[in-house]
Parts: sequence; C-alpha cells; structure tokens
Amino acid sequence: MIFRQLFDSTSGTYTYLLASRRGGEALIIDPVLERVERYLQLVRELDLRLVKAVDTHLHADHVTGLGALRDRTHCVTVMGEQSNADVVSMRVGDGDRIAIEGVSLEAIYTPGHTDDSYSFLLADRVFTGDTLLIRGTGRTDFQNGDPRAQYDSIFNKLMKLPDDTLVFPAHDYKGETVSTIGEEKFFNPRLKVKSIDEYVDLMNNLHLPNPKMMDVAVPANMHVGLRQADIAAKGWALSPAAAMALCGSPSAIMVDLREQSERDKHGVIPGSLHAAYADLEENVRAGGLLHELAAATGKRIVFYCAYGERSAMAVQAAQDAGVTSACHIEGGLAAWKNANGPLTR
Ligand SMILES: [Fe+2]
Repeated sequence: MIFRQLFDSTSGTYTYLLASRRGGEALIIDPVLERVERYLQLVRELDLRLVKAVDTHLHADHVTGLGALRDRTHCVTVMGEQSNADVVSMRVGDGDRIAIEGVSLEAIYTPGHTDDSYSFLLADRVFTGDTLLIRGTGRTDFQNGDPRAQYDSIFNKLMKLPDDTLVFPAHDYKGETVSTIGEEKFFNPRLKVKSIDEYVDLMNNLHLPNPKMMDVAVPANMHVGLRQADIAAKGWALSPAAAMALCGSPSAIMVDLREQSERDKHGVIPGSLHAAYADLEENVRAGGLLHELAAATGKRIVFYCAYGERSAMAVQAAQDAGVTSACHIEGGLAAWKNANGPLTR
C-alpha cells in the first residue's frame, strides 16, 4: 500500500494520501488549500490518479483543498452527511464505506469536536480527524461542538477498536506523527477522567483562543461546491421538473453516476441506467458505451448523481468527447427528491 502523511506547518494539519498500488487510484484525507500543488505533484510522481478527496469535518483553522482538487482532477469530494458545506459530491453516514481501487475506509460518525466529525477506519489504522489527537482531544467549544458527544465518540467508539490500531490525527502541534489506541488509552491526559461529567467540565474550562484563520476558513469551507450555474449557462442542465417530464420518455436515457452503495441507500430514478462515475472516461469516449448509445439511438443522455457535482463534471467530459446531447439534473437526486420525483429501490 502507498501511504503518505503530509504536513502543513502553518495550520499543523496532517493530510493523508492513500493508494493500493503505483499506477492506481488514490484518495486524500484533509487536504489544505495552500498545499494542493504539492499533493498533485506527489500524485504525479507516484503515478497515481486522485479519485476521492475526503474531509473528516468542516475545518476552522485552514481552508480545505477539496474544491481545488476537484477542479483540477475531477475527483469526487466526500464529507459526512451532517456537514454544513454547501455541496460535496458524496456524503457518507455512520457505517458507510468510502472505496477506491484496493482501499476501503469505514466511516465512523464521531461527533463532539464538531457535529459533522467523522473518523475513518482502514484495517490497522484509524484517521481520527480532530476527535482524538495524540495525547489530546479536539476542542468542543465552537461549530456545534459538544463534549458529551465527544466523550461518547471516544470512549464508546474509538476506544473499542483494538489497542494496536494506529491513530493518525488531523493535527499535531508538537511534532508527534502517530500513536495507537492502546497508547492513548493509557497516556492521553484528557482520557484520565472518571466520568462523562468530569470530561465535560474539563473541556468546558479550556479557555482557548479562537483559531487565527477561523473567520476566513469556516465560511470558505462552507462553500466548496462546484459552480453548477456554469453548466446551466451552456444549456446543459435540467431542473428536476424538466427531468421528470423526460422520465420514461423514449427520447432520453437517465444515467446514474453514483456508486452501488449510494443507489442501495437512497434509491434510483425508475428506468435509469447505471454507469458509475469512476468509469466515465471510458464510457463517454468514442467506442464507449454511452458514446455509442447516444449515437445509435439519438437519445438525450441525462446524467444524475447525488448533488449534481459528478453529473456536472460528466456533462463537460461527455460534451468534450462529442456527446452533444449530454445534460444533467441540476442539484442531483437531492433536488429530485425535494421536487417529489419518483424513486425505486
Ligand atoms: Fe477541526
């Protein structure tokens, strides 16, 4: 496995790059905007293809690199379903998986530092975001933080993992790089409390100054979505109502770009075809399934995904590949559901 721990010294943030092999798909956790060029260089050097960028939570101390990485690589951006970010390509809940070729992370909902904090478990290691730090825990005094929830996340979720599970946090300010669940159990001073009330008391009396970047980072991180208006301005977007009128029509084919797990969890538009975003390039180029389907039938290709991000990128790619009928449902399945569009399992 390829595993890189990268550091942003300005914010003390750790970013993790994962891939199962050289030449394969890669995933990045908690990228920092100012370091995006460095990540992309490393991705090139290791001959990887960045396909997913994940944030453990909405950060207050740095601007996320999610939007920039998506714009540069067309990767899928992922956050927890509780996140206040305007649009990410995919949202996960407790127990869901974030998969790329050869790597599968289990999402563990660990609120407390923020109400959208997740940890991600990968076999022998866990990425704990700001929930559990090395000999510390993330502050709980802003962004809907809650020391009670954090106690539960740490003691009833993370501490139940095997003692030798490696702990990779989102931050460190003292130069520590990795710990284990067992080590934190014994040596983390914040975990020496005898009760949940003692923990709440401890966390409520830290009196920490706000992060320097907070007023910039939080609003910026809430607006990471792709500008779907640009695709609409080219005439390549359908409102949910317009898409509903085409649903079942012989002149159009709805194409679902989501992953099977999302389809199982949220349902699909009746009669739609499944062609996952990961295979898009192959499907839209000349000779590819969607390219030939559009050419042979003259039907309009109507892409959709969860929130309209992947489908907007798919429309652009399909149009670039000569599929001139390609369009998408603006706002994705979320907008479709809001408009009471029919769904099937
Ligand atoms: Fe944080």
